[in-house]
Amino acid sequence: MSTLKLTLFSSIFLLVSSRINTYTWPDPKTDILEAIYYQQSGYDGRRFGFFVRSCDIGAGNIGPGRTNSAEWVRTAYHDMATADVEAGTGGMDASIGFERDRPENVGRAFTDTLLFFEDFMSVHSSMADLIALGAVMSITACTASASQRPIYLSFRGGRIDATGPGPLGVPEPHQDLATHINSFKKQGFNVTEMIALVACGHSLGGVNGRDFPEIVSVKNDSTNIESKRNFDTTQTVLDNNIALFQRMIDTVPKTVQLSGVIAPISVKPNNIFIAVKQDGNMTITGDIRTTTGWHPYSPAFECHVLSSFTVEVIDDGQSTVYTNGGAGFPIQTDIIPQAGLSCGTIFLGTSYSLNLTVAVRDDFQLQQVILTIPIPIQQAGSIVPRFELYIQTMQRTKTLNGTGYSFRGGLKDIGMPFQLWKGLGSCSLD
Ligand code: HEM
Repeated sequence: MSTLKLTLFSSIFLLVSSRINTYTWPDPKTDILEAIYYQQSGYDGRRFGFFVRSCDIGAGNIGPGRTNSAEWVRTAYHDMATADVEAGTGGMDASIGFERDRPENVGRAFTDTLLFFEDFMSVHSSMADLIALGAVMSITACTASASQRPIYLSFRGGRIDATGPGPLGVPEPHQDLATHINSFKKQGFNVTEMIALVACGHSLGGVNGRDFPEIVSVKNDSTNIESKRNFDTTQTVLDNNIALFQRMIDTVPKTVQLSGVIAPISVKPNNIFIAVKQDGNMTITGDIRTTTGWHPYSPAFECHVLSSFTVEVIDDGQSTVYTNGGAGFPIQTDIIPQAGLSCGTIFLGTSYSLNLTVAVRDDFQLQQVILTIPIPIQQAGSIVPRFELYIQTMQRTKTLNGTGYSFRGGLKDIGMPFQLWKGLGSCSLD
């Protein structure tokens, strides 16, 4: 086990809540969601929460008279509202992507919210998880005020996106009370809970004249702030009964198992690339995130020696060693993607491809190395893509004599934009 020594600089950028509940790195299902939630600004900041820093109408919102945080919470409710908890179907499953044309989902909030979240989608961060996270971060923004400490709902991952629309079921203003009671019962809420959830939800945002001209007299004027009527006078402060919100985002089909609560880890490696050199050495480059910043590193080491490392943080003369739960931060050197020999192509904004090289240990004598790439595919009837696994056998391209490794390559047209690794170069187009 090697030790990386880091001396800290002081740029605080990581949003860390007081809840400490660590997981062991790496955990692909958690790593991405943890980064989207807790890395907001600074180096490698994901900026997911930048659009809900405020809970009021004004600069930073998607348009005049609109409130991003209110729209994100409404999107979460409308996605969940087609749940049938007794049958164990529906809930937070991103089925809203297929349901935007329904009268019960009037307004631009849903399309705009989903389009924003789409950039954060991956095979380990489903749209349904992002809708839930959007509600979590909006509620934090809307509860932070001079008189109140912000509320952090617990965020769990693992929601699975629906591949088709759910049934009708979002309550509408013209329906009678009995219909509303029935809808909420199907969603798992009794009458008291229904009143509390609607009251809570409607302590944010308001009604748009564009979509409800019978309620708001200034119609269809997106530049006039009067074309929205807020529900209450304290719309920036979310009222109590937060536990109902927690149930809302945790309502999922019975086939879905949510993860534990995702909390930030104190030390997190990222963008780790190991390059196998012709002379038999390897170099490792990467970043280590600590609660006070990111720290790039690039030591060189001998083949096959490194299997894990620990991180010693020296801050103000105080040393703390992080062992990732005891066993160190693991590094696998059996099959190693070679970032310097791989590239991505984006041609005229239409054609996207990935050209990947991996180094494979010769002593394993593997007959086949299979490349699996999740590719985003547009779904008919929804603006939310789904991921399809593309599988390809990688061909041996080079043997590196004396290193114990050979290279294999794989090339795939993705057809849609995809997030390249950090550090992955562009393929030349000749
Ligand atoms: C009887 C049930 C409900 C009815 C009939 C209802 C109806 C409405 C209507 C007509 C609007 C105005 C939409 C617009 O102008 O764009 C609205 C906005 C909103 N609703 Fe509801 N709603 C219900 C329940 C809920 C619940 C349970 C929540 C959340 C938990 C919620 C969250 C919101 C939010 C945050 C807004 C403001 C959106 C914005 O400002 O853009 N609603 N609702």
